[in-house]
Amino acid sequence: MKKFAEGFMLGAATAAHQVEGNNIYNDYWAQEQVPHSMFNEPSLDAVDHYNRYEEDIRLMAQAGLNTYRFSIEWARIQPEKDAWDENEVEHYRKVLKCCHENGVRPIVTMMHFSSPKWLISMGGWENPEVVDLFASYCRRLVGELGDQMEYVCTINEANMRLQLAALMQEMMKRMSGAQGAGTDKAAAGGSESDVQVGINLNKENMMLGMVECAQAFGLKDPRDMHTFVSQCTPEGDLLVMKAHEAARDAMKEECPHLKIGLTLSLHDMVARPGGEKFAEKEWDDEFLHYLPYIEHDDFLGVQCYTRKFFDGNGVAEAPAGSARTQMGYEDYPAAISDVVRKVAERFKGDLIVTENGIATDNDARRCEFIREAVDGLVQCIEDGIPLKGYMYWSLLDNFEWQKGFSMTFGLIAVDRATQTRHPKESLKVLGSLIEQ
Ligand code: BGC
Repeated sequence: MKKFAEGFMLGAATAAHQVEGNNIYNDYWAQEQVPHSMFNEPSLDAVDHYNRYEEDIRLMAQAGLNTYRFSIEWARIQPEKDAWDENEVEHYRKVLKCCHENGVRPIVTMMHFSSPKWLISMGGWENPEVVDLFASYCRRLVGELGDQMEYVCTINEANMRLQLAALMQEMMKRMSGAQGAGTDKAAAGGSESDVQVGINLNKENMMLGMVECAQAFGLKDPRDMHTFVSQCTPEGDLLVMKAHEAARDAMKEECPHLKIGLTLSLHDMVARPGGEKFAEKEWDDEFLHYLPYIEHDDFLGVQCYTRKFFDGNGVAEAPAGSARTQMGYEDYPAAISDVVRKVAERFKGDLIVTENGIATDNDARRCEFIREAVDGLVQCIEDGIPLKGYMYWSLLDNFEWQKGFSMTFGLIAVDRATQTRHPKESLKVLGSLIEQ
């Protein structure tokens, strides 16, 4: 069994809204609360990581992990457009310090899907003002906390909006009874498992829910609601890249020592005969067209959970009888090393796997999944690919967005009635996969 070399960044990841609890000023909280919400359940206290981060970081460190990727909740820092909450800045200073005290390197994400509610009310991620607003938040925050940071991801899965746009278009068509027309994805049907994130496409009263959400943001038309995880235009796609570049440059000016990149949600594309052009197009949409905006970054965060098949008709099914995760996609641990290899052909900087994992209630399977994934990644390093870190998703069982708490990705289970932590065998296994 292969292991990572000493000094490699081995860890786990979380995102603020999925674990902290009570992120009442962000756009997710607002959408979770409406009567016909798309969410299976609201996040509420989540897994109370806001108050229990010390225990969680200690558990990681004790298991042998040396890196923790977590995100800072923009809406906590700026609950209103012109507000800046120093108490919340202090909170994250304590989290960073706690990492250092435990010998754990922090990788900080500045925006992991959730945005301040006020931002969405003013047009969100389609309003060009987002570029300066995001860059100013990042600049000021690293001005205060940058001395505690080293690796920073500006935006999580900066390509997610485009993937959702394709899926949402399909959904709209289905809802208006015009299924099948238009895009490649429409031809293939399109399903929740086409994207590597928890969304619901088949809730009752979805239109009503959207109208209620728009109202919650003070918007008349649901089409004006541009959260990060919602449909985007091609201009909106580029706006995310501009926000990334502006934030990166602002943070570099403030703290030249920071290593800055973004993360992308990528699939291992597999073309069956006739599917080549579909697979190539998808790879271009997911990855290649972003290269001009990221090629000067210090690193790229690679996130992959599964593979995707294409045949002469577009997206095709995984092999019949293949095992599925709770998320509905194929359980295929080799996907991550395939993607790392493919990314390394074009992106020449350092790579960090910022997310990879499996949603399953069978922890023995999770242990095998991790061993297989790590095996493939160590081979990538042996072949000369500059892979510097592996973050398993996720440290804790947590709030999988619209799917609620039912998806169990975690290395640590949480009894939400008491918020008691129960480390799983997989935490130990991951920690053992590095030379000490
Ligand atoms: C996201 C996480 C999410 C995970 C599992 C990624 O798309 O960054 O927030 O929980 O995948 O679906």
